[in-house]
Formats: sequence, C-alpha cells, structure tokens
Amino acid sequence: MKKSNVLVSAPGKLMLFGEHAVLYGNPCIVTAVDQRVYVNVEKVGGESIKINAPELKIDNYSIKVSDLGGVDYPKEVKFVLKAIEVFFKKYKIVSGLKIDTKSDFSSLFGFGSSSAVTVCMVKALSKIFDIEVDNKSLFDICFKVVLEVQGVGSGFDIAAAVWGGTIYFVRGGKVIKPLKISRLPLVVGYTGIKADTTTLVQKVAKLYKSHEKKIGEIFASIRVIVEKAKIALENTDYLKLGELMDENQKLLEDLSISSIELGSLTKAARRAGALGAKLSGAGGGDCMVALANKSKTAKIREAIEKSGGVIIDVKFNTEGVRIEK
Ligand code: PMV
Repeated sequence: MKKSNVLVSAPGKLMLFGEHAVLYGNPCIVTAVDQRVYVNVEKVGGESIKINAPELKIDNYSIKVSDLGGVDYPKEVKFVLKAIEVFFKKYKIVSGLKIDTKSDFSSLFGFGSSSAVTVCMVKALSKIFDIEVDNKSLFDICFKVVLEVQGVGSGFDIAAAVWGGTIYFVRGGKVIKPLKISRLPLVVGYTGIKADTTTLVQKVAKLYKSHEKKIGEIFASIRVIVEKAKIALENTDYLKLGELMDENQKLLEDLSISSIELGSLTKAARRAGALGAKLSGAGGGDCMVALANKSKTAKIREAIEKSGGVIIDVKFNTEGVRIEK
C-alpha cells in the first residue's frame, strides 16, 4: 500500500568469522545486533530533499533533486543521498522528500550504520512510491549504493541489515544462508579507536599483491574456519566455536590487521575464561568479541574493562529491516 510517510528501522551488525577473506570470494558469518538505525521518510511537495540527522549534526540540510548525482555529497549524508539518487534513477522518480534519521548506536563502533541507513532508505522509498522490492532486490540496490560511495565492500553488512539473524554470506550476495541458531553468548568490547575499513582493506590488498601465495593460504585457512564455525554454530558447540575464534584471530594477526588494543582485549578475555576471542570487522580498532559461558561473563567483562575496553551491551541474531509505522 502506498504511504506518504513511513518510518523504517534496520539493525547494525557484527562480523563473527571471515572478515577480509570474504572480499576474495570466501564466505563469512555475520550476525545482526539489537541496536538499530531509524529513518523516517515523508513525501513532500516541491523538488527539494531535506535531511535532519541530529546525531551527525546535520540540521535541515537541503538539496534539489535535479542536483542529485551532480554534486559532492557531505560525508554525513552521502549514503542517504546516494540511495535516493540510485532509487530515483532506477524507477524514474522526481519528488520532494523530508528525511529524519536516528540511531541507537554511535557510528564509531563499526556496527554498520552506513549500510543500515542505506537499507532503511531504500525500503522506505519502495513503500512511499509503491514499488515491490523483495529482499534480494533490496540487497542488490543497497550494494550498488555502498559500492558507489565507498568503492569496496562485500555487502555482508547490508545482508545483516536486510535479513537480520545470523547469516553465512558470500560476497555480493552470491550465497545468503540464514543460520538456525538459538543464542550467542558473546561479550563485545570496544577499543575506543575508530577503524578505517577502506584503509585496512587496501592494506590487505597490497599484502596480497606482494605475497600472493602466503596470503592466499591464510584466506584458504579462514575459509575452512568459517565452514567449521557454521557447523559449530548450528550445533551449539561453543567449545569448538571458541577454538575457531582464536584460530581466526591468529590468522587476522598474520594479516597484520589486528592492533595492540585488540590484541590486549582478546588476551584479557581469554585469561578471564572466554572460550575464544577475536576482533570483529576490518580490524585496527572498533570492536572485539569474546565467547563467554554464563558463569564467566562477569569476569570477562571486568577483564576487558580493566584492559581499557568499553563493554557494549547488545543482543545478537536479531530482526532485519522492518516498517515501524
Ligand atoms: O569494518 P567493518 O566492521 O565494516 O568490517 C569490514 C569487513 C571486511 O571484510 C574487511 C570488508 C567487507 O566489506 O567485507
């Protein structure tokens, strides 16, 4: 049904296994978190797009529809504007819009606020302009948007925002397999350092170019870990899963994308009894995850904090994009 005003939300994500290797055609596993991004889109008269994003200090930003695609977008709103540009072009639409965004989480954590906002935007536009867009088409449009804005990306974060849950994923959505899992007893620690995904992706690409055989072998080992982790997750085999997290972390260290802080938080978590611990995402900063038996959770949280990390309380395996009203 056509609506002139719609509020959409989509979840953030955490990479569980397979970061970086996923960009080279290998699978990864990602889970959606219960912290969400909200976008309200209203169809208005005229041909201007107005955006309010208080968390990003964007107050009444305005652009003419005819300027979409022809000017540089401010970095805070480039995903929103690129999503509109791509959608309007694809469906030959010209319309004024009023957009308000809000987020449960800071864009600093690396939870994927850009992909979540893109998914919200395209979903909202499909409702407002009454265009049937199934989940795969929603993924494809958003993946195009993200690639046009940042040039690199496997699309795992978009898949998490669209489908939610926990997903076995291959780059570009070649495979998107929701995993049936019950719960994920993870503790998340934030390093306090913002990771720059593009720089780290380029760093690994450079390494791959100069040491193709060695890095190729690391990717192949990560692939095996991801396949085993998929089975361990589905069988709720936490002992195995923890072991695999440690192995994946070791390989990410071999790729030189861990950091002193990520290393010290993962070690502290293990010493406090975690079944396994690894960085999550591009590396260099952002977050780490530790797998924790309930009896050890408090100790692990304390150990992460004592080592300078900030505990982020999130639930995992949560719902994908949804229309709020
Ligand atoms: O920085 P994050 O949390 O968005 O994770 C990036 C993960 C990579 O595999 C390095 C890139 C990607 O798009 O898959």
